[in-house]
Amino acid sequence: MLVDIVMEGSCMYFEGRALNLLLVEIECGDLPLRGFWPYKLALSSSSTNHHHKATSLLILPLLLRTPISFSFNLIDPFLQQSIVEMSSARVSSFTQALLLASLLLFMTVMSCEAHLTPKYYVKSCPQALSTIRAAVRSAVARERRMAASLIRLHFHDCFVQGCDASLLLKDAEGIVSEQNAAQNFRSARGYEVIDSIKSAVEKVCPGVVSCADILAVAARDSSEYVGGPTWKVKLGRRDSTTAANKDLVQRDLPIAFNNLDELITSFARQGLSIKDMVALSGSHTIGQAQCATFRERIYTEPNIDPGFAAMRKRRCPSSPVLGNSTLAPLDLVTPNSFDNNYYKNLLQKKGLLHSDQVLLSSGPIGDMVKYYSKNQAAFFADFAAAMVKMGDIAPLTGSAGEVRRTCSVIN
Ligand code: HEM
Repeated sequence: MLVDIVMEGSCMYFEGRALNLLLVEIECGDLPLRGFWPYKLALSSSSTNHHHKATSLLILPLLLRTPISFSFNLIDPFLQQSIVEMSSARVSSFTQALLLASLLLFMTVMSCEAHLTPKYYVKSCPQALSTIRAAVRSAVARERRMAASLIRLHFHDCFVQGCDASLLLKDAEGIVSEQNAAQNFRSARGYEVIDSIKSAVEKVCPGVVSCADILAVAARDSSEYVGGPTWKVKLGRRDSTTAANKDLVQRDLPIAFNNLDELITSFARQGLSIKDMVALSGSHTIGQAQCATFRERIYTEPNIDPGFAAMRKRRCPSSPVLGNSTLAPLDLVTPNSFDNNYYKNLLQKKGLLHSDQVLLSSGPIGDMVKYYSKNQAAFFADFAAAMVKMGDIAPLTGSAGEVRRTCSVIN
């Protein structure tokens, strides 16, 4: 069993008291748990002691009565060290009791959050999924690239303020649209397809299916339609009544010029691991990018196949005032099919974006690229799992937010 644990040694307010909480994410089979672990209750007098954090995590296998392997996000190297040091340490029964108490509290905090489930609309709108699927299929049949654009919309929604369809809101009083932030402006596309899917769904079940869920399902259906993996989409997200401000959008969405550390940090901020990052980047097996996003790479980087650079230069002039929006396929071999050619391209130094090619680094990240280049089935499985995880980023559930009637405006 693999457990991804994401540490955020932050101080948050919970029930009116400042507690030091760990954001813990556990995957047990297909049952992901996400919640806050109040490690102050577990043993600690000193809240910043990594040793104590490690103790509370080590007790997990004991309480779940099953061996668990931990995989850590690189953001907390001290904690990793502590885990290693402590894996041979003995834990007293008093400590166990304390930790059990803290786990129970952890579970309680988690159970306060309503959870997403694939069955969410089974009773309230049994036609929801088939309606979305039919609309996605006709949009992608009309324009194959739309599959890529819809997958990207879900990504750009989830990374900013969670999967709450905040990306879809247009400028209005009190709302500065996320669509105008640098990473989205004249780049993110497919909004009108989401609008038309929403009106089809509203016809069969008015006011029931959220725009955030439509984005998640449309991404899955797009992947499947162009030959990629499919997965069960968890549902029950609600839509935000606010958009994130521009600074937050620009901070939270990675850009093509990011280096590897910046990419890792960007995914870690969302609770996503390096493995998730490498797998999700594989969606650049479809879709297009504009010259402005890869010009620097093709003209200045040494780490690029010369023939490939020459080919891309033909339609992407070096002058920064010319041809900025000319398109090139992210995967030069099969730009319209979802496969593992993206990783094969990286091995040949034919990644289009700087942020693509940096994945082929020495060490474990480069090893993952090589692995996916040889094993499409593993890539598909990891991509599907990572999409589910991405779809779980900070959803609004229960009575939070609303179900918008029109995706581009609040009710
Ligand atoms: C690792 C960090 C990432 C960076 C820096 C990045 C950056 C970009 C850039 C610059 C483009 C071209 C946009 C344009 O020229 O208009 C693009 C396109 C695209 N991205 Fe990413 N991306 C990243 C991760 C992801 C992830 C996680 C997904 C989905 C899960 C994704 C899906 C796509 C798709 C499908 C396209 C093509 C869209 C289309 O053709 O309309 N990207 N990305």
